[in-house]
Amino acid sequence: MKVLIVGSGGREHAIAYCTAKSKRVDKIYCTPGNAGIAEYAECAPIGAMEFDKIVAFAKEKEIDLVIVGMDDPLVGGLVDELEAAGIRTFGPRKNAAILEGSKAFSKDLMKKYHIPTAGYENFTDPDKALAYLETAKFPIVLKADGLALGKGVLICTTLEEAKEGVRTIMLDKKFGDAGNEMVIEEFMTGREVSVLSFVDGSTIKTMTSAQDHKRAGDGDTGLNTGGMGTFSPSPFYTKEVEEFCCKYIYQATVDAMKAEGRPFKGVIFFGLMLTEEGPKVLEYNARFGDPEAQVVLPRMKNDIIEVVEACIDGTLDKVDLQFEDNAAVCVVLASEGYPVSYEKGLPIRGLEEFEKHEGYYCFHAGTRFDGEQIVTNGGRVLGVTAKGRDLKEARANAYAAAEWVEFDNKYMRHDIGKAIDEA
Ligand code: AMP
Ligand code: GLY
Repeated sequence: MKVLIVGSGGREHAIAYCTAKSKRVDKIYCTPGNAGIAEYAECAPIGAMEFDKIVAFAKEKEIDLVIVGMDDPLVGGLVDELEAAGIRTFGPRKNAAILEGSKAFSKDLMKKYHIPTAGYENFTDPDKALAYLETAKFPIVLKADGLALGKGVLICTTLEEAKEGVRTIMLDKKFGDAGNEMVIEEFMTGREVSVLSFVDGSTIKTMTSAQDHKRAGDGDTGLNTGGMGTFSPSPFYTKEVEEFCCKYIYQATVDAMKAEGRPFKGVIFFGLMLTEEGPKVLEYNARFGDPEAQVVLPRMKNDIIEVVEACIDGTLDKVDLQFEDNAAVCVVLASEGYPVSYEKGLPIRGLEEFEKHEGYYCFHAGTRFDGEQIVTNGGRVLGVTAKGRDLKEARANAYAAAEWVEFDNKYMRHDIGKAIDEA
């Protein structure tokens, strides 16, 4: 079979790696892809939002299955357009991807179906939002309704800061139309866990847990990023937590979407906060997390294509989803200055080292070819991932491997997985 993957990050590289292992796959394409994905796939320079070109490309190459990795095209309705052209596609349709595309929608859904989450109010009128803040408790959390590259969340400790935040989101439109509506919600404390799951519209099967590190600097300081590193599994995701989430969150979300006439097929990413009152949903994403996918997918025993097809066909209940009984850690190598401004086009050395070691992966997040040479092409450049028998070993392996690669202005956090020591 011929598979097309849409996206260009470390997540898509991890998906391509799993797809290449499938016995059912003869040829992989990727739009637009990157220099690492090119090892497995023929990459074509078509942007993820160029829907007409993607559909035409899929037809021309007689693609049997498209896997859409990224949030923007999912929320924009790429799956609907591919399906309308008769092309089998993995990912939620537009009316289901709204679970990620609109935070106001997802909060209302959780309220209506009694899924545990932070208390909140939605606002389309900035004056009403400002008035609401006058009697609110602090800290408080402001969220732009739409997609904002993971940056549309502001945690405000004072009334003044929160008022400024409302102005930033709704009046200055710092996150564009994503700020036409906003959610103001209660601040929660606790540990964060990410749980990814496969969903076929009715059945949900969760994958192994993971934890992301969103802030740019060591000790969770600095700006929010797309993610600076991950580990899997999370030692805080106990059997007890899992049982609670199975009972009140996972199936409840899938059933709620179905009841709303928006059956969800694809990957639901549950961002959870383990609060003193029990686990609550921080956010939903309608796709694999990045870099969560980089520690979860290499540990999956199943053939990814079989699972993906079961989601499309509604036969996920027949799949026995299995993960290795080990651990993985991913350390993101970024360009100094990320997420604000950074240089691109810097030559990367040492990538060949990964071919010599089993259980080590170098997923490319922002790279491209400059002639024969692979160079940096983004803020997050590489996701260096290593497995180990346990989290400590995986972390030591990942940090050792992070030294194999060199490029000018290489930057990484040094405390990915530090929470492991507190478990
Ligand atoms: P989100 O994009 O909704 O996951 O928010 C990004 C990050 O902001 C989360 O990973 C949390 O660290 C933090 N955050 C979001 N909502 C809350 C909340 N209600 N209470 C505390 N922290 C939050
Ligand atoms: N790592 C968080 C995300 O993919 O949204």
